[in-house]
Amino acid sequence: MRKKIVAGNWKMNKTLQEGLSFSNELKGLLDNKTINCEVIIGTPFIHLSEVAKVFDGTKIHVAAQNCANKESGAYTGEVSAAMVASTGAKHVILGHSERRAYYHETPELLKDKVLLALSNNLTPIFCVGEVLNERESDKHFEVVAAQLKDSLFKLSKEDFAKLIIAYEPVWAIGTGKTASAEQAQEMHAFIRKTISEKYGEEIADNTSILYGGSCNAGNAKELFSNPDVDGGLIGGASLEPVKFLPIIEAIN
Ligand code: PGA
Repeated sequence: MRKKIVAGNWKMNKTLQEGLSFSNELKGLLDNKTINCEVIIGTPFIHLSEVAKVFDGTKIHVAAQNCANKESGAYTGEVSAAMVASTGAKHVILGHSERRAYYHETPELLKDKVLLALSNNLTPIFCVGEVLNERESDKHFEVVAAQLKDSLFKLSKEDFAKLIIAYEPVWAIGTGKTASAEQAQEMHAFIRKTISEKYGEEIADNTSILYGGSCNAGNAKELFSNPDVDGGLIGGASLEPVKFLPIIEAIN
């Protein structure tokens, strides 16, 4: 059975102190509540170990938002997958559209990052999604299939089975424009079918596929009620505990 997951992505927001105060507040809000999903918080690198300590012993995990495409060495400013794992983080977001667009991350480079993450026992949350003109010209399925194939489909079955996929239509990220429940379900079903064709039905059925892009307390329930939507990757609405909590509670 695949897992339901709600993951926050703080992006480049919050000082360390603000991150800790968020974490303590969220921990308090979740105390004694029944949560029906795994909760992951994607923080900047420098917050990871302190935030992981706050959530130690709870069901909340911490994720990095990136890692280097090299193992170690003279790569000034980079943070390796091994370093991320040493903080207590269990996941790493890879292939986010902001990294693809602003830092020119290519499918080839992402393939290397995924392999390094897996060999350091980190679970990649691998993002795919089309830009607006690709959707408008009806290329969205083709684009998403290519993103999966180019970075992930050389993995062994065992390795692929460890991944979490996030479908994030780029036109919906930070824009307030959410994909409709139908558009999300249609693409998630397509992703699952594409995985099934490559790795078989069992692996496809067990892969969690999250939706991301202006997901919030108001639309989460409708999005998450689709059979192939296994939760969300939340940006803006993950920055305040009181806004994030109802999204976590939207999973039932
Ligand atoms: P958003 O971001 O929820 O602010 O649209 C989602 C993401 O980029 O992961």
